[in-house]
Amino acid sequence: MARRIVIAGNWKMNKTVSEAVELAKAVVAKAGEAPASVDLVIAPTFVCLTEVAKVLAGSRVSLAAQDLHWEESGAFTGKISAAMLVSAGVKYVIIGHSEQRQFFGETDETVNKKVKQALKHGLLPIVCIGELLAEREAGQTDAINERQLKGAYAGVSADDAKKSVVAYEPVWAIGTGKVATTEQAQEAQAFIRKVLVDLYGSEVAEIIPIQYGGSMKPDNAQGLLAQKDIDGGLIGGAALKAEDFIGIAKGA
Ligand code: 13P
Repeated sequence: MARRIVIAGNWKMNKTVSEAVELAKAVVAKAGEAPASVDLVIAPTFVCLTEVAKVLAGSRVSLAAQDLHWEESGAFTGKISAAMLVSAGVKYVIIGHSEQRQFFGETDETVNKKVKQALKHGLLPIVCIGELLAEREAGQTDAINERQLKGAYAGVSADDAKKSVVAYEPVWAIGTGKVATTEQAQEAQAFIRKVLVDLYGSEVAEIIPIQYGGSMKPDNAQGLLAQKDIDGGLIGGAALKAEDFIGIAKGA
């Protein structure tokens, strides 16, 4: 079975509701320019999900959320549940983004709880992992990625793992304009695939798309996406312009 190519736009804390609707419309209008085999996904903020879902209805673009909480419901002020996301028309959910890990106390353990909760509700997790610059410089890249990956998938069955996407986002490349070289990204992602083989065997590991994320742009996407273990992208800044986002997808 061929691996899917998933190009996802993480809009982070950008766009008001009306701006998000406008951008979503522009993405839908251009979606036909991307190869038919590519899965296109956009992740606006929570408050924009229901309005953006209306724009995406009947299009080839899927809706993602940027996070969820691992409990079903209750006294968790400020949090959003899996059932709420499903009710808003969400298909994918980004989990464990480095900004959540760095600024909001996300740990391997909370990532694992969120992955399990998403899968329980039929949401497809986009599991983010990646090393800091200091960790890369200390030669710990593979060890960090292995720890984060094994933490995220602890107790997750092979059948559930098949529904997930991994996003390798070297933290030093996020929003810095400093993209990983195709060799750096491929090397890290081949290692990530090997860890998935350890966890689930090669048949399952071959199915799980591994995205690259970090300063991906239309002019560097093609080289990255040509690599054997790079099966898409998780795009921040460039996803805020429909032309650039679809330009990246065209590189697949
Ligand atoms: P940039 O594309 O802005 O570097 O962000 C990458 C990212 O964090 C996507 O989740």
